[in-house]
Amino acid sequence: MTPPEQPSHAEPAEPVLPVGVGPWPGGREEWPDDPRYDPELLADGDRRNVVDRYRYWTMDAIVADLDERRHGFHVAIENWQHDMNIGSIVRSANAFLAAEVHIIGKRRWNRRGAMVTDRYQHVRHHETVEAFAEWAAAASLPIIAIDNVEGSVALPAADLPEACVLLFGQEGPGLSPDALAAASATVEIEQYGSTRSINASAAAAVVMYEWCRRWA
Ligand SMILES: C[S@@+](CC[C@H](N)C(=O)[O-])C[C@H]1O[C@@H](n2cnc3c(N)ncnc32)[C@H](O)[C@@H]1O
Repeated sequence: MTPPEQPSHAEPAEPVLPVGVGPWPGGREEWPDDPRYDPELLADGDRRNVVDRYRYWTMDAIVADLDERRHGFHVAIENWQHDMNIGSIVRSANAFLAAEVHIIGKRRWNRRGAMVTDRYQHVRHHETVEAFAEWAAAASLPIIAIDNVEGSVALPAADLPEACVLLFGQEGPGLSPDALAAASATVEIEQYGSTRSINASAAAAVVMYEWCRRWA
């Protein structure tokens, strides 16, 4: 006689959920005849974190398509202390389709939070705030500093031009005096709790979202 089934006290196994899509249905004979598709992805499946429109596309084809429709805002961040937020800011810049990301200061930055999105994004480096400001002036882009400092305008009332650079500061010190001086306006996100500021990458996502709400 088989014993009655006992309740298991073991933790249930975490379900392994497939991400993305498997090989192109129907096999090789059904593959689309379009150079934007990547034969390796068609054969093995596409497990990348890309929107459905870009499933099975090569990275070059995706970047070329994004380049056709990038928004007018740029994103810049000061990087004097290897700020950990830069990766997340690059990821949000990709999601909100920024024209470019600018790193001011140290060339090296921590790519972990970018989750590979930096490969779809144009990232430009500037040694100094002065060099960055010269580049922005040559490109006719006003610099909008984002920080909660004396004289900042609250985001709902602030002007966010269609073509501009949104400039963010580092955890801790925030924007440097040189960066604030280079900006034509300073904008703050209103807060309601006890902390002085939010995380720089959270601030970047809020302002990029607001730019898109107005212009995209
Ligand atoms: C953690 S904050 C530090 C500086 C901040 N000025 C302070 O008083 O603590 C780092 C960066 O996040 C962004 N940030 C954080 N909270 C913000 C807010 N409420 N409004 C605008 N920017 C903010 C800014 O770009 C800022 O330079």
